[in-house]
Amino acid sequence: MTSLTIARPDDWHLHLRDGAMMEGVLPHSARDFARAIIMPNLVPPVVTGAQASAYRDRILAALPEGMAFDPLMTLYLTEDTDADDVAAAHASGLVKAVKLYPAGATTNSASGVANFDNVRGVLERMAEIGLPLCVHGEVTDGDIDIFDREAVFIDRVLDPIRRATPGLRVVMEHITTSDAVAYARAQDDSIGATITVQHLMLDRNDMLVGGIRPHYYCLPILKRGSHKTALLDAATSGEARFFLGTDSAPHATHTKENACGCAGCFTAPVALSCLAETFEAAGALDRLEAFVSLNGPAFYGLPVNTDTITLTKGDPITPPASVDTGAGPVTVFDAGRPLHWRVG
Ligand code: NCD
Ligand code: ZN
Ligand code: ZN
Repeated sequence: MTSLTIARPDDWHLHLRDGAMMEGVLPHSARDFARAIIMPNLVPPVVTGAQASAYRDRILAALPEGMAFDPLMTLYLTEDTDADDVAAAHASGLVKAVKLYPAGATTNSASGVANFDNVRGVLERMAEIGLPLCVHGEVTDGDIDIFDREAVFIDRVLDPIRRATPGLRVVMEHITTSDAVAYARAQDDSIGATITVQHLMLDRNDMLVGGIRPHYYCLPILKRGSHKTALLDAATSGEARFFLGTDSAPHATHTKENACGCAGCFTAPVALSCLAETFEAAGALDRLEAFVSLNGPAFYGLPVNTDTITLTKGDPITPPASVDTGAGPVTVFDAGRPLHWRVG
């Protein structure tokens, strides 16, 4: 196959940041994706409906003339979140999910949740109104090894929350382990799970053998190869619960090439080329559309995009090594292998 036409994809987990950084990175998502779930981990975080509305306006104002893109907004869950404000933001159509960051788990998560009892009322309200909870699923306990933090979170936090809040719809964000794949598969359709580009292409050896590669450092951290295999099996299965969330997470290059480098991979410019390459190698190109264009809208109860994109295979493409933004250059994800598929 050298050409593949599919419904236009969406990105169900995206960091656009704000200001000059946002202006620089937004076109790279809007070029290929119709919609994206916009992560709220700004500084300060997007907590209220009013803040989400203002952020959405800033995104639309930064969109280049002639480009169409629908930012699907989320609220950052804090222990002070007001359930009425959440319900109103959902009822107006502005907000499509609430995001749970365990305090201290990842980039800009300091305002996240430490005591889960304090968000019980909000979660119950969300279950009532059918508003999904997107979860960064890692515990932060210092005695839990970083490579085990996702699996432990499922047992200690996620499963108890779901049992305590029947009917709550949950997206396990950026899953990285066979444990998460197995947990998602064992649940009913109230659970969805997003998978990133880098976790389908790389394992921890790619990051750490022969030199440390800071542009492969993200959270949850890349795991051993057997987990990558389980994720690839999930993504290429066609199963409705698994869909693309790139977690494209731009950080200025100097903040990653640093003695204490930031977590996040900027994959937006190459996400679809990477996925086509990966699905083709897995013999599953016919399942790509389900993963990038069909399963996400079905979970969120939104229509599939009516326009299409065409991926074509040819000579290896040469993506830019970095994208210039007013907040400094941002290194573009390079999986270290040739990419033959381009959009258009
Ligand atoms: C994300 C970021 O930079 O905001 N980083 C990452 O490594 N994934 C935060 C997140 O999604 O956890
Ligand atoms: Zn996260
Ligand atoms: Zn993220």
